[in-house]
Amino acid sequence: MRGFFLGLLLFGPLLFVLASGSSRNLPIITFDEGYTPLFGDNNLAIHRDGKSVHLTLDERTGSGFVSHDIYLHGYFSASIKLPSDYTAGVVVAFYMSNGDVFQKNHDEIDFEFLGNIRGKDWRIQTNVYGNGSTNVGREERYGLWFDPAEDFHQYSILWTDSKIIFYVDDVPIREVKRTEAMGGDFPSKPMTLYATIWDGSNWATNGGKYRVNYKYAPYVAKFSNLILHGCAVDPMDSVAKCDSSEDVPSGVTPAQRIKMENFRKNHMTYSYCYDKLRYKVPPSECVINPKEAQRLRKFDPVTFGNGRRHSKRRNHRSRGSQADAASF
Ligand SMILES: *[C@@H]1O[C@H](CO)[C@@H](O)[C@H](O)[C@H]1NC(C)=O
Repeated sequence: MRGFFLGLLLFGPLLFVLASGSSRNLPIITFDEGYTPLFGDNNLAIHRDGKSVHLTLDERTGSGFVSHDIYLHGYFSASIKLPSDYTAGVVVAFYMSNGDVFQKNHDEIDFEFLGNIRGKDWRIQTNVYGNGSTNVGREERYGLWFDPAEDFHQYSILWTDSKIIFYVDDVPIREVKRTEAMGGDFPSKPMTLYATIWDGSNWATNGGKYRVNYKYAPYVAKFSNLILHGCAVDPMDSVAKCDSSEDVPSGVTPAQRIKMENFRKNHMTYSYCYDKLRYKVPPSECVINPKEAQRLRKFDPVTFGNGRRHSKRRNHRSRGSQADAASF
């Protein structure tokens, strides 16, 4: 045992490199193997190698693609390079949903990228819904430690029956643990994977203050390194067939947890758990960290505590309505 811990001390950094690099060994598929165009066909371009795809938003339309298969759990990933320069109002989304099948009680796991005015960085939003829990938004928002329009970075979702982990370049940025009290709010029905770019002028940037300006179009989001590694459900006999691999992360390692905490300390700008305007009592799964609470309160006293503004805020969901709170 001692030896083990000593080994961990000595080789911890090495272990971390191995663990964090492991998901890169998962098979990268071609677009056609895993996906099909969803909308805005003319604005979806597949690279000659078959592995990269460009989604464009212009004054005519946005565009998107969707996985052939529907999955119950798995590891889903893409390298994404976002459009640069003036991107206010532009939304790029990489998410799982079954809203087309379950209109009243759908599940959803979201990465949403919200554009910005020139000189201000993109922001990322994550969210989950389970069984139609759209009256309880569980959004978090973050800045990044790099410019996501400058280069490709990997964005991944790990979904198991006990947790959901969001990753940016193998740094876990958020872990949603299933708790009993969450009940059906934890996503539990098979979902398809989507990637889209669209005009979110009405809410994406400062609550609609800065709209998409088509003078700067076309807006092109580039996707590559597509990984769909999960349990595909056969719709006929509803049995899930799982790809198995040692390379799928099984959880957050201790070294990754430190990275996650650092990320959240330095880059998180919004968390529903601390939003006193929306939730007098935080939803049951929230674990309140006093330091985090204090930091957010300093950053936005109205939303996160003792604010004096008594406005009636929407606490039901209109996709991303909360994006207007802490602007950039
Ligand atoms: C999900 O919603 C449906 C319909 O509203 C309900 O019948 C079912 O019990 C819910 N499932 C869970 C796990 O809460």
